[in-house]
Amino acid sequence: MSKIRIEGRKELTGTIEISGAKNSVVALIPASILCDEQVTISNVPNITDVDALEEILLHLNAKIARTDNTVVINSNNVENKEIPEELSNKLRASYYFMGALLGKFKKVDIYFPGGCVIGERPINLHLAGFESLGAKITEKDNHFIIEAEELNGNNIYLDMPSVGATINIILAATKAKGKTIIENAAQEPEIVNIATFLNSMGAKITGAGTSTITIEGVDYLHSSFHEVIPDRIEAGTYLIIASLLGHKLRLTNLIPSHIESLTSKLKEAGVKMTIGKDYIYIKEPRNYKGINVTTQVYPGFPTDLQQPLVPFLTQCEGESTIEETIWENRFQNIPDTVKMGANITVEDNTIATIKGITPLHGSDVSATDLRGGASLVVCGLIAEGITTIDNTKYILRGYNNIIEKLKNVGASIELIDE
Ligand code: EPU
Repeated sequence: MSKIRIEGRKELTGTIEISGAKNSVVALIPASILCDEQVTISNVPNITDVDALEEILLHLNAKIARTDNTVVINSNNVENKEIPEELSNKLRASYYFMGALLGKFKKVDIYFPGGCVIGERPINLHLAGFESLGAKITEKDNHFIIEAEELNGNNIYLDMPSVGATINIILAATKAKGKTIIENAAQEPEIVNIATFLNSMGAKITGAGTSTITIEGVDYLHSSFHEVIPDRIEAGTYLIIASLLGHKLRLTNLIPSHIESLTSKLKEAGVKMTIGKDYIYIKEPRNYKGINVTTQVYPGFPTDLQQPLVPFLTQCEGESTIEETIWENRFQNIPDTVKMGANITVEDNTIATIKGITPLHGSDVSATDLRGGASLVVCGLIAEGITTIDNTKYILRGYNNIIEKLKNVGASIELIDE
């Protein structure tokens, strides 16, 4: 079992390049199944979620070639067979094979997806969307058979703007007959990225990035080359680290507008940064004051950044609060943060109150989920002494080369086998 070992309180100087977005590439790869020719995807991060999707593609008999940051996928000989539970439950995004295979073959045989246990994570909106397009669903013990004689466009209103349901309905509707309109659609940049990808193959999708998305079904999708957008959550995580430890630290290859909800909150706390077209630069840390944050769907403050923000708030003068509105169980990092010296109370698993400033000290801690694990890395970087983090698999599923990126700018961090 590997652990991450950090000796904290090192100044960080230099450049960190942001990688392609996990939550974008995990939709683009299953979407490639819909293509009738070959697709090339670049700026692909080297994370274990991508490895898990590659395994599913290989299981389905697709051809996939990975070199550096590029993936070439040819799905011409894909066999539409059952995706077994041991493959589907390796990650959340396996559910995108539902929309993609249903769209291509009008049938999919798959198990419930995996992913971090940060709440109940139902998929009722995905399934209701497939049904609206004409599919029949047979569900038993986590096993789903979703099939249709024919998929026909329809008007679909989402009870909540779910990222996964929006993408899955787009995938299923891309080759359906007629027009599908999704109302109250999610507006995250990952939705725009998947629509741009499918449109580059000949799909007819408009409105992505707004709450109303229209999909005119097409019969054929031709080959395409597509780049994954920069990872806004990775960028945000490093920006939080830079605010605490950056001395002439530059983050490059990011889209600043994608993390405006974070940059505005950090500025409110007192962080000074220079924001360029595709970079953010921090000259030095300063004294910060407490802020209140509520997680919301895009363009609000992302739930995926509230856990990495916690260590920053321990270093702010006075009281800060985080209200989590998306997931029911996203404060699992707090007990270990308290063990490291933080003063935090959590009410109803919904509101965390953080009182600062509290110095943090190194401890043996354990990641419980991806962003909670990233939060503990931030804690370790600012703590006095040595921190070891167990369950690194959660962190490595979503942060490309995190050890090397931090080491390169001066952190004392390594992956150790125990
Ligand atoms: N929801 C339902 N029914 C559904 C779908 C969602 O009730 O059928 C609820 C969820 O329970 C939740 C809310 O709607 O309360 C939002 O869920 P959403 O479907 O938007 O989340 P997701 O698509 O499962 C993606 C990211 C998450 C990120 C959320 C919110 C991927 C693979 N995952 O999940 O990322 O937190 O959107 O932005 O794209 C992460 O990267 O650490 C991560 C968890």
